[in-house]
Amino acid sequence: MVVAEMTAHKDTVQINRLAGALGAELRGVNLASLTVNGLAILNKALIDHHVVAVRDQKLGPGEFHAFTQMLGPTHAYPAAAKSMGHPDFPDIIRLFNTGYAKAVTQHWHSEASAWPAPPSFTILSAQILPSAGGDTMFANQHLALETLSPALQQMLSSMRAHHSIAYASGTGSEAVHPVVRTHPVTGRRALYVNRYFTKHFEGMSVEESRPLLAYFEAHSVRDEFVYRHRWKLGDVVIWDNRSVQHRATQDYGDEDRLMFHVEIKDEIPA
Ligand code: SIN
Repeated sequence: MVVAEMTAHKDTVQINRLAGALGAELRGVNLASLTVNGLAILNKALIDHHVVAVRDQKLGPGEFHAFTQMLGPTHAYPAAAKSMGHPDFPDIIRLFNTGYAKAVTQHWHSEASAWPAPPSFTILSAQILPSAGGDTMFANQHLALETLSPALQQMLSSMRAHHSIAYASGTGSEAVHPVVRTHPVTGRRALYVNRYFTKHFEGMSVEESRPLLAYFEAHSVRDEFVYRHRWKLGDVVIWDNRSVQHRATQDYGDEDRLMFHVEIKDEIPA
């Protein structure tokens, strides 16, 4: 369904909602020659829909990289991710369906929440897709918070949680973030705990935290909060980590799947 048509110079951009909870597709945009007006349309679509799929892009690595830098500076990647960098554009992480990428991405998570300043946006560009499957799912964390009882929302608003990751090399990262974060543009609040990185609430043990975390792990990704993106070659998908959790679906056996992945605009959750 077309919900908006706006003119970006001579291009007509169509914005179609993709699910009830979140997600929209943009058609009629060329990310290789994005105008200031086109960028404004994209940024507004991101604020309104949290996840935006831009269709039919034919971008080489240089064009893709140049587009990502229009949204902000690249996240300070950990060494484990840097080793997957594109040889010519190290800010582009090549996500194959193996190793580190598989270990993290198959679980629901909010991007890099174990870092003190996680990226505001993530951008994926499909390079190789399996013959079927390999969808990416997104869950709206504003709705996750707003559907909790007022008493629980009140309790959570003063709580913080520890997020961490450890690599086999003994390195890793740890951060403490508010359990409820406020979107800096809209002021709308969102639940900010996730299955992969969140270990326990501040001032509480892991054992004490587990039952409530387990409740949120199930509640925050309820079907009615989710959009499931079925990839097509040419799709570039951008999402707002201040509003959504995401996960990759590992349902395509040993077929190849390769995504170019860039994380943008680090920001301390508040
Ligand atoms: C990610 O978790 O950032 C990647 C998701 C995907 O590969 O679908």
